[in-house]
Amino acid sequence: MLLVAALAPLVVLATTVVADPNAIPNSPISISLPITKQINLTGTFHPSQRDQNRWMNLLTGGQASTSEITEVPLTYSIIAYSANIGVGDPPTYYSLTVDTGSANTWVGANKPYSKTKTSVKTDDFLNVPYGTASVNGTEYEETVTIAPGVAIRQSIGVASNSFGIYPFDGILGIGPKYLTLDTLFPDNTSIIPTVTDNLYGQGKIEQNLVAVSFEPTASEPVIDGELTFGSTDSTKYTGDITYFPITKTLPSGRFWGVDASFIYGNAQGKKAPVTILDTTAGVIDTGTNQIGLGTDAYNRYVDATGAVYDENTGLLRITPAQYENLQSLFFGIGGRTYELNANAQIWPRTLGVPGGEKDSIYLVVFDLGSIISLDLGFIAGQPFLERYYSVFDTGNSRVGFATTPFTYADIN
Ligand SMILES: *[C@@H]1O[C@H](CO)[C@@H](O)[C@H](O)[C@H]1NC(C)=O
Ligand SMILES: *[C@@H]1O[C@H](CO)[C@@H](O)[C@H](O)[C@H]1NC(C)=O
Ligand SMILES: *[C@@H]1O[C@H](CO)[C@@H](O)[C@H](O)[C@H]1NC(C)=O
Repeated sequence: MLLVAALAPLVVLATTVVADPNAIPNSPISISLPITKQINLTGTFHPSQRDQNRWMNLLTGGQASTSEITEVPLTYSIIAYSANIGVGDPPTYYSLTVDTGSANTWVGANKPYSKTKTSVKTDDFLNVPYGTASVNGTEYEETVTIAPGVAIRQSIGVASNSFGIYPFDGILGIGPKYLTLDTLFPDNTSIIPTVTDNLYGQGKIEQNLVAVSFEPTASEPVIDGELTFGSTDSTKYTGDITYFPITKTLPSGRFWGVDASFIYGNAQGKKAPVTILDTTAGVIDTGTNQIGLGTDAYNRYVDATGAVYDENTGLLRITPAQYENLQSLFFGIGGRTYELNANAQIWPRTLGVPGGEKDSIYLVVFDLGSIISLDLGFIAGQPFLERYYSVFDTGNSRVGFATTPFTYADIN
């Protein structure tokens, strides 16, 4: 049941359209580009195992031994958001997975890299183990086109070997740039600015930030998202954006990490709310398919919902009657509360779950695993980001959230 990457027609300039790409200097603008959600549930590893392996490897720089990982990865079921980015002049467009959990941008996994006159090979090799994927290859200086008329010079990797990326051509890494430390060889101390950093540094955007608009969807593939570099897109959210500082607690603070809590229970409900997780550092991540909780918090969520772990799918399962009673899960941060209603906590029923039963309902909360003994409380992945507009603000070291027309949508 797959989904194909509709090559999204690039573009849309949110504020000013710069008609002449040679006009120098460009006046700073914001740049929006569409992103496509693709779902491939045919892999033998289900999304929880994928998400768990992803984080074990991201946290250890790929050093997690295979005995700590469920099994050696073969193929993964995957839900990913991708954007089309041009490389070279004239540009070749590549479909790249949008990843806030890593910061290297690279191409060539599927569609081969085409060199043009803008291509400058460096002396460095690239090696990034993502756990659910990996790449090694050569680092190039290139001209990268983010939207028509908006090109930057950018250090990118070109894959020699990669796995786990198909059908995408590579990754658009928009995590904090320090995550690129130790990904190049021999120059392993260099830090590679991300496309966001370079858009800002090269005068193309007015603020060093990227905003993400995702939507919940029960069909596939669909162009339903938007990345906006340089400012936020007020057509994609409601109310105000509230910002929270990046946590100082490691390892979360190396990523888009914040201090937050989880409470289960409806204030209007009959039962008293249950604290699932006291305020703890965790990570906001576009590349995680579900919502991960540390084992103790996960167990409290299981108790509170009455869900059972389903071996066939690796997901928590509830009955339709339990779904009727499912209370909201509240993500609490800096005195604000972001509600995930019952519908936001379940796997989209029309998509089906690999290995799942028709009449069962599956939850999107998974166990980060006791193997992640590091101080990592949670990963707020796609189910959270599909309900709340998010802003990854490098310039001010903060993350922002706002409600959207989909925050309470009954779509799953
Ligand atoms: C879906 O994933 C499977 C397993 O990873 C892979 O073999 C297959 O080629 C993928 N299909 C598409 C259309 O991407
Ligand atoms: C690159 O990846 C291939 C395939 O996984 C591996 O055999 C090779 O040793 C890697 N090379 C480097 C320099 O890491
Ligand atoms: C670079 O590699 C050397 C040798 O392997 C290692 O000792 C050092 O910690 C690495 N530097 C960084 C920043 O990872």
